[in-house]
Amino acid sequence: MTKKLHIKTYGCQMNVYDSARMADVLAPIGYSTVDDPSGADMVILNTCHIREKAAEKVFSDLGRLRRIKDRRREEGSDMIIAVAGCVAQAEGVEIRRRAPYVDIVLGPQTYHRLPEMVARVSRAGGVILDTDFPQESKFDYLPAPNRVEGFSAFLTVQEGCDKFCTFCVVPYTRGGEFSRPGAEVLAEARHLAVAGAREITLLGQNVNNYHGAGHAGDEWPLGRLVAEIAEIDGIERIRYTTSYPADVDDTLIAAHRDVPKLMPFLHLPVQAGSDRVLAAMNRRHNVDDYRCLVERLRAARPDLALSTDLIVGFPGETDEDFEATLALVAEVQFVQAYSFKYSPRPGTPAAAMPNQVADGIKVERLARLQTLLNNLQQAFNESCIGRLMPVLLDRPGRAPGQLVGRSPYMQPVHVSAAADLLGQIVDLRIENARPNSLEGASLLAPVIPVADVQGIQA
Ligand code: 5AD
Ligand code: SF4
Repeated sequence: MTKKLHIKTYGCQMNVYDSARMADVLAPIGYSTVDDPSGADMVILNTCHIREKAAEKVFSDLGRLRRIKDRRREEGSDMIIAVAGCVAQAEGVEIRRRAPYVDIVLGPQTYHRLPEMVARVSRAGGVILDTDFPQESKFDYLPAPNRVEGFSAFLTVQEGCDKFCTFCVVPYTRGGEFSRPGAEVLAEARHLAVAGAREITLLGQNVNNYHGAGHAGDEWPLGRLVAEIAEIDGIERIRYTTSYPADVDDTLIAAHRDVPKLMPFLHLPVQAGSDRVLAAMNRRHNVDDYRCLVERLRAARPDLALSTDLIVGFPGETDEDFEATLALVAEVQFVQAYSFKYSPRPGTPAAAMPNQVADGIKVERLARLQTLLNNLQQAFNESCIGRLMPVLLDRPGRAPGQLVGRSPYMQPVHVSAAADLLGQIVDLRIENARPNSLEGASLLAPVIPVADVQGIQA
């Protein structure tokens, strides 16, 4: 009998990938995913610990789940509640204390053991806490992915981080850096192509420090891995995220020049525009290093656009430091960005630094920064009007007869088009720009003929 599984994902794309893989490992023991938690036999919260807000959200969601679980028990059934991901890793004991009705607490490295955990809970009850960093790699135990939603797939190639930026919990929750062997990544990419993926985004906390085993006892840097994946028929677009500026090497820059399938859009977190703040953050780049890197990347790929992550109100950040961040943002002309108020995280060095910035100042700075970022994004979107852009049509639009796709720069593009064009990459003339999306028109012939797509074999 099939059982219903609801997974709620918080945080980064690596969690999105992990959630899909958790669904894959539970499918053979009868679980299929549903959108609504209220009728579910099992709910997994795949959590994020990066900022305080994200972590607290988990506890309020758990309160709601408890009521559903109680109701199901009264009705004679039950609901297994599992907390996975980085909050589980960092606060497993706290979860058990604050939410004793949680059945399973598992870290990001142990979800291949989920079927065993579920069997134990169903048979004997009790609570399971598994936040090991096990010897075995979970990747060796996961089934090949066989479903792709919307023609675009994530593929984790690297995990963990050794950088220890002073604000960040990731090195503690995800552990040290680990790269999957190249052959394993290629096999997964081929499976994804067969399952319908046209676009693959390679994921890692520090993805550009990828150094997986190659075919001949050598190690592949990310640039080489990208070039290998570009050889796979059916995969038309490659992206990677998230990168650490100091780890961008020559092979990766060359890949931006030489591999047309590598999209001209790069997420390259800078965090701040002041050398003093960058040093206090323990970032291994200063503003000038970042500037030079952007120049080299743009020389390799002139149509490259950049997005970034920024933090305001890091301890000790002065008005002058903040102005330097605004100046750098305007200079680099980021077309998209994630910006955050600094959030002190327990156990990280910055949380114990003197000169914490008052929340009111953080709020003000964030508002100014976001105004600038929104203006840049709008200007970039407007600069696209009149251009011909290849768009991967990946989902139906809200209006009948409308499809939505993604430009090379991840902008959603709305267009009137027949549903049989879903999954195609078509050249669209951009006619209109909105703050967060584009409108395309004058549908031309598909760039990739359907016949080629159907000819792909594993
Ligand atoms: N406070 C605010 N933002 C943070 N980030 C990471 N840790 C913190 C923190 N403690 C941001 C960084 C990172 C992104 C994923 O989240 O900008 O690049
Ligand atoms: Fe966190 Fe810094 Fe590692 Fe990025 S590079 S995951 S911000 S410690």
